[in-house]
Amino acid sequence: MVGGLEENRVKMNFFLETVKVLLLTIYLIFESIILWFLPSRRKNVAGELVLITGAGSGIGRLMALEFARLGSTLVLWDINQEGNKETSRLAKEKGAVRVHTYTCDCSKKEEVYRVADQVKKEVGDITILINNAGIVTGKKFIDSPDSLVEKTMQVNVMAHFWTYKAFLPAMMASNHGHLVSIASSAGLIGVNGLADYCASKFAAIGFAESVGLELLALDKTGVKTTIVCPYFINTGMFDGCNSKWPRFMPILEPEYASKKIVDAILKEQVYLVMPRSLYFIFAFKNIMSAKLGVVLGDYFGAFHFMDHFKGRVKKD
Ligand SMILES: NC(=O)c1ccc[n+]([C@@H]2O[C@H](COP(=O)([O-])OP(=O)(O)OC[C@H]3O[C@@H](n4cnc5c(N)ncnc54)[C@H](O)[C@@H]3O)[C@@H](O)[C@H]2O)c1
Repeated sequence: MVGGLEENRVKMNFFLETVKVLLLTIYLIFESIILWFLPSRRKNVAGELVLITGAGSGIGRLMALEFARLGSTLVLWDINQEGNKETSRLAKEKGAVRVHTYTCDCSKKEEVYRVADQVKKEVGDITILINNAGIVTGKKFIDSPDSLVEKTMQVNVMAHFWTYKAFLPAMMASNHGHLVSIASSAGLIGVNGLADYCASKFAAIGFAESVGLELLALDKTGVKTTIVCPYFINTGMFDGCNSKWPRFMPILEPEYASKKIVDAILKEQVYLVMPRSLYFIFAFKNIMSAKLGVVLGDYFGAFHFMDHFKGRVKKD
């Protein structure tokens, strides 16, 4: 008798929760269609303390210049002291009043913690953390030296663990902040010749997504998450790589990419995938057969993206 009542209660809960989720799904689909046509609200980041790792070149530098224009206080980290200083100089030219540069090798946990403590003492609690520093080996996995594979994981994802450990507690305490992960489209789909890089970017996305959910479960809704998955950007990091169908999947210009990223942060957008055509490819990836995936991957050039990879050769 008691067992029967319990079974009915479970069935009723299942029914009610299913109806609730179906109604919410319909509501949220309509909401996103309507929001698509309405101008989005953008938050004010003047006075926010923005930390960018890998700020010494590429999109890290360009994002710093965008935040300088928006009146944020900048905390710039890079292993490359010269590049970082140059970003600081350019940011001041753009009107930034407070710019703090720190030389930090993000692949080293102890160094991340040490520099983070220094930042907290000298500048204050970071409110927007942008994990952007990244490296690529650019070799077939079997030819990649162990040291480079390890370094790729340390810079591209493990550094994110340590910066979150260092700066997230203060964001949680004030229920205010923003975690930004510059991942990659290579974190959503495997690529021939990018095995360790893809592994690190898949991990970075899984990590950022999971911590985002932990924050929601803890009702820390004031701490936002943005996960960025761009295709190739013309910064030098992937020099030599080319797109098979550039009209459909163009190599992105760094200025365009950095503006889109900062805009996504201001709109508190959770995911940003660039270019838009990639949204379709990723949606299809999860529903089509593996064989069809290979045919389409070949069609889009996924087997040959890295054939002419040279990477960054010039020093910024
Ligand atoms: N360029 C692309 O095609 C592309 C595409 C998708 C994602 N991304 C990602 O965007 C981010 C920025 O890339 P980018 O194109 O501007 O490259 P970039 O090489 O211009 O910039 C990377 C920066 O990270 C710094 N860095 C490297 N190792 C470091 C370390 N151990 N500690 C601290 N700083 C370190 C470098 O000095 C450099 O300033 C990376 O995470 C990259 O994986 C790039």
